[in-house]
Amino acid sequence: MRILFIADVVGKDGRLAVKSLLPGITSDGVDLVIANGENAAGGLGITPKLARELFRAGVEVITTGNHLFRRAEIAPMLDEEPRILRPHNFRSRAPGKGYGIFTTSSGVKVGVLNLVGQLYMDPADDPVSAANAILDGPLADASIRILDFHAEATGEKQGMYHYLDGRVTAVLGTHTHVQTADEKVSSQGTAYISDAGMTGATNSVIGMDPRPVLEGIRTGLPQRYMPGKGDVELQGVLIDVDASTGLATRITRVKEPLEEEDDVSD
Ligand SMILES: [Fe+2]
Ligand SMILES: [Fe+2]
Repeated sequence: MRILFIADVVGKDGRLAVKSLLPGITSDGVDLVIANGENAAGGLGITPKLARELFRAGVEVITTGNHLFRRAEIAPMLDEEPRILRPHNFRSRAPGKGYGIFTTSSGVKVGVLNLVGQLYMDPADDPVSAANAILDGPLADASIRILDFHAEATGEKQGMYHYLDGRVTAVLGTHTHVQTADEKVSSQGTAYISDAGMTGATNSVIGMDPRPVLEGIRTGLPQRYMPGKGDVELQGVLIDVDASTGLATRITRVKEPLEEEDDVSD
């Protein structure tokens, strides 16, 4: 079986890329589509309306990250909609949870877990303890288990991969928005990439218009950031999994440009 993980969807153009490109990418067989949606709303956060838009486009599970609560109106949805996850090691009183088991149309159960890192990130509980608690608890019976590890430092992501090697199907890094070329499957059947990339404008600073970013760097003054314009790509990874063992057999980077004829915006 095959799982598509779409890297952080940034703003309207990112959502358009998902809507337009997903049918083609999934046409030769994808059993589950997961997308990180923490930047869906203008680059910062996600709203219930936009989460529903991603679900309508074919996304089946939304993971998130540090920017989730930049749009506070998402909070009630986290307790009502099991298909949208927040990093589980956020503060314990935060709404929602960071894991779920999702059944594919072919009847296979896939556990999805979402965690944030601690290095160069907002304060969060220890992600290793959180991973142990969820993998040995609510996700113990899922043979296929995918972790979106939303973290800044490559070393922390590689550390998590080695810690969980053989216990999960995939450790997929997100948050830096820059796709890395270190995808691999370990001898124990765990797929890994340090960062799956970003779905949005490529001529940008991690998805955002470079001009205010540069102004902020030069002046130190707060800026109003907005998504970049121009060429758009859908990035992420495809993971092939042996459904009988839950082990990954292959991980393939996805880097699909949005062509003008793909534009299906209404
Ligand atoms: Fe992001
Ligand atoms: Fe992030």
